[in-house]
Amino acid sequence: MDKIVILDFGSQYTQLIARKIRELNVYCEIHPYNRLPQLTDEVRGVVFSGSPYSCNAPDAPVPDMEGIKGRLPLLAVCYGAQYLAKWGGGKVQQSQIREYGRANLTFIDSENPLMKGLPEGSQVWMSHGDTIEVLPAGYRTICSTANVRYAGYQIEGEPTYAIQFHPEVHHSTDGKQLLRNFVVDICGCRQVWTPESFIETTVSQLRATIGTDKVVLGLSGGVDSSVTAMLLHRAVGNQLHCIFVDNGLLRKDEFSSVLNSYKDMGLNVKGVDAKERFYAVLAGVTDPEKKRKAIGKTFIDVFDAEAKLITDAKWLGQGTIYPDVIESSSVKGPSQTIKSHHNVGGLPDYMKLKLVEPLRSLFKDEVRRVGRQLGIKEELIGRHPFPGPGLAIRILSEVTPEKVRVLQEVDHIFIQGLREAGLYDKVWQAGAILLPVQSVGVMGDERTYESVVALRAVESVDGMTADWCHLPYDFLARMSNEIINRVRGVNRVCYDISSKPPATIEWE
Ligand code: XMP
Repeated sequence: MDKIVILDFGSQYTQLIARKIRELNVYCEIHPYNRLPQLTDEVRGVVFSGSPYSCNAPDAPVPDMEGIKGRLPLLAVCYGAQYLAKWGGGKVQQSQIREYGRANLTFIDSENPLMKGLPEGSQVWMSHGDTIEVLPAGYRTICSTANVRYAGYQIEGEPTYAIQFHPEVHHSTDGKQLLRNFVVDICGCRQVWTPESFIETTVSQLRATIGTDKVVLGLSGGVDSSVTAMLLHRAVGNQLHCIFVDNGLLRKDEFSSVLNSYKDMGLNVKGVDAKERFYAVLAGVTDPEKKRKAIGKTFIDVFDAEAKLITDAKWLGQGTIYPDVIESSSVKGPSQTIKSHHNVGGLPDYMKLKLVEPLRSLFKDEVRRVGRQLGIKEELIGRHPFPGPGLAIRILSEVTPEKVRVLQEVDHIFIQGLREAGLYDKVWQAGAILLPVQSVGVMGDERTYESVVALRAVESVDGMTADWCHLPYDFLARMSNEIINRVRGVNRVCYDISSKPPATIEWE
């Protein structure tokens, strides 16, 4: 498979470069700038990403260009372009005019292979504090904006290109054409990285790796574990043993409906009802982190006991996806853990199972495309993310089975409402929160003193930042009415209008 290597200098846009290249059906990988992978024959070209650093800073990231520059096609973006200009003897300094946001290309060398098909005036996105003042000899300008003379250049006689703007962001209107020019025309990559090809190669690799061994996989009802299961199932059939644990903290009727979907998909799956165990360990616990830890530990205990019943299992399947892998190996190091997230998997060492993670190279949207290609129902593919500790972290203060029941009813009305109003797919994640307060109300002639719930719906790309959804007032009004009329014990509904940061998506 032809491949592009992206060296990450810490830019916030590095993942976007990878996604844009993958959208061209070309495979690419991100590596930290100081850990260049082996440049095998499959590697057709290299991209240098941007960076928050100035290339004049004493601790500026310095890549090893041996084997790259002049040998393989290279596209240096933003910091990469400035670094390369400085390296060649040019001059880079802080720019006098701010160069952030939209700009237009006033000059384009349309003969240049990188600029082919870009119209004059094309809008590009700039985001840099430094600028190239002097271009080294032998570097030829291929585009300019009104403020940036050396917006792009090529080093004469070699396939080394550089641009100071960001072709990967949406606001660079012809960025995709430019990236296509680079990966397809200049690097010669074949556009064969498709869900079908991914499935085909992954399934045969899984077969070769696993052989006749047994594999254990924890299912959560989420997209990643479901797609992992289907790939493994296609590769090794009933050698795959899936375990789906009911922790009593799932959405209303979710355990049975998801379990049935898994069975319909032909999976060898065992549903384990462990509700009471989870409720028992949660009794009296109010601290959110203690709840997470108690749920995480109980999950492992339950899963471990079930996995042991599968004699001679050698492998543990996991639904790890690419952003998790990049996060933990990026230039900046693993990002700070704000909450101790508990996900399916993460088993104790003594289980001695070898890990198999077929989605390690995929972004979330690619996981969905693969899932569709594998014939997984849209209901499972398009589901909102749902936290491992489930409703426990949406019931503020102590969790009891009765509170779970109330919250399940509220959540069900809200989620069904979103679906019926055609809003579900427009929202990234939604749910309800049961607050630990009672408020006064009046129903008929009776004064009530009952619970308050909050509804939360957010827009996001990856959960790292989020904004609250501006749901229509009449929809919110309908939800409020339905919840108060139908759920006994609730007399007030609020809507959360906080963004992340400074708030988080979950309340605990
Ligand atoms: P926050 O609340 O940190 O949530 O803004 C970001 C995303 O992570 C999910 N989340 C969790 N997922 N275990 C999980 O598996 C957890 O403990 C956990 N806490 C939050 C949250 O639902 C959102 O999608």
